[in-house]
Amino acid sequence: MATPEDLMRRCFALACRGAGWVSPNPMVGAVLVCEGRIIGEGWHQRYGEAHAEVNAVASVSAAERPLLQRAVLYCSLEPCAHYGKTPPCVDLILREGIPEVVIANTDPNPLVAGKSIARLRAAGVRVRTGVLAAEGRYLNRAFFTWIQQRRPHVILKWAQSADGFLGRIGVRTPISSPLAQRLVHRWRAEADAILVGTRTALVDNPRLDNRNYFGPSPLRVALDFEGKLPLSAHLLNDKVPTWILGPERPGHWQNTRFWPLPARQPDGRYRWVSFLLEKLHEAEKGILLVEGGADVLGQFMALDCWDEIRLLRSQQHLHDGVQAPRLPVNALLRERWRVGDDEVCVWTRAEDT
Ligand SMILES: NC(=O)c1ccc[n+]([C@@H]2O[C@H](COP(=O)([O-])OP(=O)(O)OC[C@H]3O[C@@H](n4cnc5c(N)ncnc54)[C@H](OP(=O)(O)O)[C@@H]3O)[C@@H](O)[C@H]2O)c1
Repeated sequence: MATPEDLMRRCFALACRGAGWVSPNPMVGAVLVCEGRIIGEGWHQRYGEAHAEVNAVASVSAAERPLLQRAVLYCSLEPCAHYGKTPPCVDLILREGIPEVVIANTDPNPLVAGKSIARLRAAGVRVRTGVLAAEGRYLNRAFFTWIQQRRPHVILKWAQSADGFLGRIGVRTPISSPLAQRLVHRWRAEADAILVGTRTALVDNPRLDNRNYFGPSPLRVALDFEGKLPLSAHLLNDKVPTWILGPERPGHWQNTRFWPLPARQPDGRYRWVSFLLEKLHEAEKGILLVEGGADVLGQFMALDCWDEIRLLRSQQHLHDGVQAPRLPVNALLRERWRVGDDEVCVWTRAEDT
């Protein structure tokens, strides 16, 4: 017989199907169980559309609908109690007469934050919380950042050679294996925006889209404070939504938006990180993937403005080139695995565990 933890893991697996489609909403999965048998399952599939609980209830066959009054609803996140883009899930649970709810995480959103649990309990529903809470929080770490920090979840990502270089100076240098590059495209599909610095844009001429995995492509963002990018650059092809932090360039732009910044600071540098995060927040972009180069990654670290670091370490040696950034002292290794010949490591902030 499946334990509550087994059923919560099933909720997490269902929740993951929403990756890339629901941000800045949380990924949520729900399972309905009656007398040890799953009678319904659902997940939050797209931003603005039905929540996991609604889809789980809808998946129960007409013949089994009466079983809901004896069922347990497992849900990876506290159901909502407010009118957002959809009606409150608490109303649905009460209307269907579901007598018991098991939850991994209380919703950090102040509009919910325990209110649903209180309403359910007040109506006589048994509610158990905290089942695999740490795993649930890790799964939805981007959502927690979005709500608690009021900015996108910042993921710093790079690939480095075995001897610690990002690439040869001034030359596009492939470092990761094709399999690892496919993983990077999956990460792109799951992000809402992707950023590179001026030199990366000039040297690599990246497309920054998701060509090698299922799912959408993120908003492309590039730094070009001095308007140095050639109009022939992929990032200026105007084919997909793109933001350029820099002066407007001549042309009839449909998908490209320019954000001129105030003048350089006395140190000769621009202040742009908080400006960008604010604009991304306004545009409801919940996850920012920063793909380098070293200078840009270093600026996020210097401001201590990062939530996650993903590193692909190859076995090849470059002997010289652009030095890879050093990990912050508060980086805590959370995952490590191999993709083909490369090693993948994921760190989060030690204080976030
Ligand atoms: N292996 C990997 O994962 C990976 C990923 C990305 C890039 N790369 C490699 O890394 C190299 C590029 O890295 P990088 O560190 O040299 O450059 P970068 O981080 O891509 O861009 C840095 C440049 O952006 C501009 N910039 C950024 N912040 C600024 C600020 N606050 N004020 C003024 N200007 C600012 C400056 O351009 P100006 O100097 O023009 O003023 C600065 O030199 C390339 O060789 C690329 O191939 C490797």
